[in-house]
Amino acid sequence: MIRKYVYGEPFETEAVVEKMEAGPGSEFVGIGQVSLTDGFTFLYQMAEDDIVYGLGEANRGLNKRGYCYISNCTDDPNHTEDKRSLYGAHNFIVISGEKNVGLFFDYPAEITFDIGYTRSDLLMVSSKEANLYLYVIEGESAYDIVKQFRKMIGRSYIPPKFAFGFGQSRWGYRTQEDFFKVAEGYRKNDIPMDMIYMDIDYMQDYKDFTVNEENFPDFPAFVEEMRKQGIRLVPIIDAGVKVEEGYSVYEEGVEKGYFCKREDGSEFVAAVWPGDTHFPDVLNQDARKWFGGKYRFLIDQGIEGFWNDMNEPAIFYSREGMDDLLLTLRKYAGEDVDRIPLQELEKVTGLANAPEDYRRFYHWVDGKRIRHDKVHNLYGYNMTRAAGEAFDEIAEDKRILLFSRSSYIGMHRYGGIWTGDNKSWWSHILLNLKMMPSLNMCGFLYTGADLGGFGADATRDLVLRWMALGVFTPLMRNHAALGTREQEGYQFENVEDFRGIVETRYRLVPYLYSEYMKAALTDDLYFRPLAFVYPEDSFAAGVEDQVMLGDEAMIAPVYTQNAKGRYVYLPERMMLVKFRKDGEYSKEIFEKGHHFVEVALDEVPLFIREGRCIPLVKAAKCVEELDTKSPEMVGFEGAEYVLYEDDGVTKEYEKEGRYRKLRK
Ligand code: NOJ
Repeated sequence: MIRKYVYGEPFETEAVVEKMEAGPGSEFVGIGQVSLTDGFTFLYQMAEDDIVYGLGEANRGLNKRGYCYISNCTDDPNHTEDKRSLYGAHNFIVISGEKNVGLFFDYPAEITFDIGYTRSDLLMVSSKEANLYLYVIEGESAYDIVKQFRKMIGRSYIPPKFAFGFGQSRWGYRTQEDFFKVAEGYRKNDIPMDMIYMDIDYMQDYKDFTVNEENFPDFPAFVEEMRKQGIRLVPIIDAGVKVEEGYSVYEEGVEKGYFCKREDGSEFVAAVWPGDTHFPDVLNQDARKWFGGKYRFLIDQGIEGFWNDMNEPAIFYSREGMDDLLLTLRKYAGEDVDRIPLQELEKVTGLANAPEDYRRFYHWVDGKRIRHDKVHNLYGYNMTRAAGEAFDEIAEDKRILLFSRSSYIGMHRYGGIWTGDNKSWWSHILLNLKMMPSLNMCGFLYTGADLGGFGADATRDLVLRWMALGVFTPLMRNHAALGTREQEGYQFENVEDFRGIVETRYRLVPYLYSEYMKAALTDDLYFRPLAFVYPEDSFAAGVEDQVMLGDEAMIAPVYTQNAKGRYVYLPERMMLVKFRKDGEYSKEIFEKGHHFVEVALDEVPLFIREGRCIPLVKAAKCVEELDTKSPEMVGFEGAEYVLYEDDGVTKEYEKEGRYRKLRK
């Protein structure tokens, strides 16, 4: 059962697609207490053993209890444990215990989730203004509530099938030759690959919807040449449009009034990669349509996928911020440093993503002007929506790969996300794993992290272990930052170990894709916490480093340096399958309970549930070359599996003959 309450005058985020009458927001919503004396505060008394799920892309555990999280889309490349805000704002939580309650705070500005942080038994959700919709969902279990929520927010984005292949990325590939080198590195070493990502350097001076002509003299021919090798190029698009006379996107945007403006009506200027930029007002329907239409420039040249970046939107500094800093520096020039007040010095480090900058520009929505900070968390969502809506017109029945850095619930209908600038740290493998079910709960199915870690130098063992987890995430992409150690699979010794891991992905693509599609088409989860599948098992409820994958399997990656394996908890009897680089696999049955399982660096472990089986095919160099006619079935004798399969290109998901029964 879902109840909807309205407080004040909410902004219509269009996160929810189901039409529902809203009851007046009262102070008592039947489940918790609302206070409206100082903004909005929701209070809920948690029982001792209550678990709190949700929040999508957020820091820390799968069980969110015990910390404080702030939905405030932030460009922060240091995901240390103390961080409260990351790139997304996914305001859905589920309290699971004796009583099960789901809560969605549909509010696009900053909102704080104090989940047993101030007081261990208290959930406090608060925002400065009381303008929001609150959805209260009751159900028989946490899982049931999540399914109700997912139905309410609409079907998750479905990418083309090639997007289930492996992709290589690195910030710093600049020329055509750089990309050919990567393709060669993979193809020569017989490592499968479907995508190479193009980071900002393919553009001319970081201008969206341009290609550097010197480095790519014939871009369509280059795209075509890569396609012949079975590789799709996936370019990045940034939120900020470079301010430059003669650049058509800039000139058109100014002429039509499609950029975000200051209070005085002039265009707001934010410095990002290209220097000064304007932000397209993607919350405005006309501007959104205009910006989305620009993707055609690349689609017409053969491009079939994009990643949207810097769309919190990230600001290195604003004109105002810089002017203020320069004035301050001038004021203290020649002074004794000890005499400069600390808060003045902090202006230097406080320039980027400054809260005051988000109060300096406006959107124009449905005839009303709204200050950016009041709708801040919707920017990445609407940039991606701009592209998604445009693709429906440009490419009609064709699926285009699309994912974003920043997001809000609702964006899950238009694209996926990657989890931003993690680091080559072992702890971030675990963080990657924990985020996946939480993101699925909030609608984001097509997700993954930068495998091998974005910032900091990677090591061979870390990349191998992380890729072994990435085998199972819908988005499987190795990406690294400029200046870090190169971490493409072929950069390390014994390349066959990387080949084995990537090949395992391809052997599993039919299964992974089938489970993804079933989850998307029935508003279900691809990754589930163990407790959703084994609600009676009190130990399973506390497991944070293993997750259920689809209906048949469980994953338990190794995420510790130098570990020979790991402890695993099996909530039922399962078969451990270890995929090896020689194309074979070992299998061993383990009884319910705790076990130490050995996993070598070149193996990919997967647990198959009692009485289930999964299809396995031979690896190929790219997804479209996989032969799925008669898969081998791995798992328990006599088990059956229903395989979903489609052309992977069109949107005819529900056409007859999509499901095939396979038997072990
Ligand atoms: C920030 C993104 O998170 C990262 O993935 C990308 O490489 C850089 N921007 C440069 O475009």
